[in-house]
Amino acid sequence: MISLSVNGTEHRLEVSPDMRLLWVLRDILGLTGTKFGCGMSQCGSCTVHLDGEAARSCVIPVSVAAGKNITTIEGLSKDGSHPLQRAWVEHQVPQCGYCQTGMIMSAAALLAKNPKPTDADIDGSITNICRCGTYARIRAAIHTAAGKPASDTGASA
Ligand code: FES
Ligand code: FES
Repeated sequence: MISLSVNGTEHRLEVSPDMRLLWVLRDILGLTGTKFGCGMSQCGSCTVHLDGEAARSCVIPVSVAAGKNITTIEGLSKDGSHPLQRAWVEHQVPQCGYCQTGMIMSAAALLAKNPKPTDADIDGSITNICRCGTYARIRAAIHTAAGKPASDTGASA
């Protein structure tokens, strides 16, 4: 039995301790906003937060996530009103969209630590891969979000 805290809700799950967190989130809990890309900690499409830190859930055994506060894109805000989510819409960032939840979760972890990141900070911190090449709009959206207070969202990150 594994106890998991996801988006503020406690779950007790009969899963193998070795099962990767990504599959527990998607297949057991039905939180399909977190995406599977490479499965090798390379692309970042599976990014969630563990105690506020960006983490690649495709390589993390669920036993390692037990006892930590896990936040997925579904838990970033109640209604899509996090400053990053608003900025993503404003800048029309996504193309195919596949990488974008991971990008937003990585950006949220960055802004929590560095509320006014430079382009270099963004490039150094967000190593997620976007096959559509939306990097310039991602940077612009992060700068827009950085100009807005995170406290008006009720978000956990
Ligand atoms: S699916 Fe996890 S980093 Fe690519
Ligand atoms: S928007 Fe298509 S992979 Fe990033």
